[in-house]
Amino acid sequence: MTSSQVELPAEVKPDAATLMASLHLMPTPVPNPEIKYTKLFINNEWEDSESGKVFPTYNPATAEKICDVQEADKADVERAVKAARVAFALGSPWRRMDASERGRLLGKLADLVERDSAYLATLESLNSGKPFLTALFVDMQGTIKTLRYFAGWADKIHGITIPVDGEFFSMTRNEPIGVCGQIIPWNFPLMMMAWKLGPALSCGNTIVLKPAEQTPLTALYIAALIKEAGFPAGVVNILPGYGPTAGAAIASHHAIDKVAFTGSTEVGKLIQEAAGKSNLKRVTLELGGKSPNIIFADADLDLAVEQAHQGVFFNSGQCCTAGSRIFVQDSIYEEFVRRSVERATKRIMGSPFDPTTEQGPQISEEQQQRIMELVQSGVREGAKLECGGKVCPGKGYYVEPTVFSNVTDNMRIAKEEIFGPVQQILRFSTVEEVIARANDTEYGLAAAVFTTDINKAMTVSTALQAGTVWINCYNALSCQSPFGGFKMSGNGRELGEIGLREYSEVKTITMKMMGKNS
Ligand code: NAI
Ligand code: MG
Repeated sequence: MTSSQVELPAEVKPDAATLMASLHLMPTPVPNPEIKYTKLFINNEWEDSESGKVFPTYNPATAEKICDVQEADKADVERAVKAARVAFALGSPWRRMDASERGRLLGKLADLVERDSAYLATLESLNSGKPFLTALFVDMQGTIKTLRYFAGWADKIHGITIPVDGEFFSMTRNEPIGVCGQIIPWNFPLMMMAWKLGPALSCGNTIVLKPAEQTPLTALYIAALIKEAGFPAGVVNILPGYGPTAGAAIASHHAIDKVAFTGSTEVGKLIQEAAGKSNLKRVTLELGGKSPNIIFADADLDLAVEQAHQGVFFNSGQCCTAGSRIFVQDSIYEEFVRRSVERATKRIMGSPFDPTTEQGPQISEEQQQRIMELVQSGVREGAKLECGGKVCPGKGYYVEPTVFSNVTDNMRIAKEEIFGPVQQILRFSTVEEVIARANDTEYGLAAAVFTTDINKAMTVSTALQAGTVWINCYNALSCQSPFGGFKMSGNGRELGEIGLREYSEVKTITMKMMGKNS
């Protein structure tokens, strides 16, 4: 998962200072893996786009093009939806399949992902810029575990029988919704794919999935594994392409029964609107955040500093859960800032394929510029820039680890999602005050509290308006626990048993009994 809890093996742990110095002298070779799949995956076949258009995909660490990929648009969405509808038709092999066989196919997919995890981690790292070791130990593990978790559920999705008026017998069936459109982002391409495919397939739906335009490559490789696992044709269709074209066609399609989206709040609103205007398809959204991380004076300071650091800088700050508003209690404020700056300054940036690298590039020049604009607003509005604040010279979209102190609640850097390696440290005095300030945001995805006082931990975690609250840890996600947002951070939940409910319709069947039965 996005867990910063996952420990790297001891032999790859860097000695920060020495390695930082040597990094620039020893450029790490960028691997050149064979790119096997660049076409649209429709009905278990590789297809060119109707328009004949392709689009380039890049390595964000070097800004160099990796290859061109077929570009799906509305006409291709049409073809994919047709295939998904046929695969979902009553009496199709997928609809007739024993639920345990569905689970076996998903389990097989997990095994194939595990078999090819070194290759997939290389491709993920190349296309997204995240460190290879993180891709291998965090993203791949999260992907495999999620697929296995939902494989296990496939034959355990039961309805209930209900005592009603004695003349009747009433029961429920949990049925698949139908064709599900799934639109995913670039920050965790493989994991987001598993979070979407796992529950949808477990419940017996069919799928038209669009990966982010920045990161289509691992999604296409997974498509090949889906075919190899033995899923019937049309059950999963993968369409690389852009948001306003292919993505919008999915959101507004009349023959798509549900759309699941992870990405910006801005686009989440468009998706919900398109769903409403078309066929009122079911909508689940996992959107932005501005998550508070509250550090009380009685916290274990070493733990809090490191977790707060990881909580915001992990994945180059490109996490919906990023703990980007750090509220620190008065009496430890100066010391917390001092240690956080020391930690951020030691953070090792470099090639994603250098085993010592903690931080790779941002995904794109557009994101890099967006981050810089917000950093400049922080300086203008009077926050104290403690370190970083610049892009790195040379190729690739790197941004220095940046720490702001003396941040106040109304600054843009305290209100807007930055999605970059930028830490905001704010000051507070009392429990009541910090609860009110932490909740004073339109977002509500995640939050954390660091304290050794159980009363404070429970009082604060109960009061925070967030879908996930961590106590004395950060980003500790697991596929068994539900995840999602309050307020403008989303709709519905992913993962866990609750995540399954978002992929089934409950049908009540009531029968009139013959004769006297009660
Ligand atoms: P985005 O929300 O535009 O992109 C996410 C996905 O939505 C991509 O697959 C994209 O192609 C698709 N999309 C874009 N416009 C669409 C439309 N009109 N209809 C249907 N699908 C559409 O995010 P973007 O532009 O890459 O990043 C902008 C900001 O969004 C980031 O700075 C960050 O704040 C936030 N973000 C949040 C993510 C999260 O995990 N919650 C992930 C990515 C971005
Ligand atoms: Mg966008």
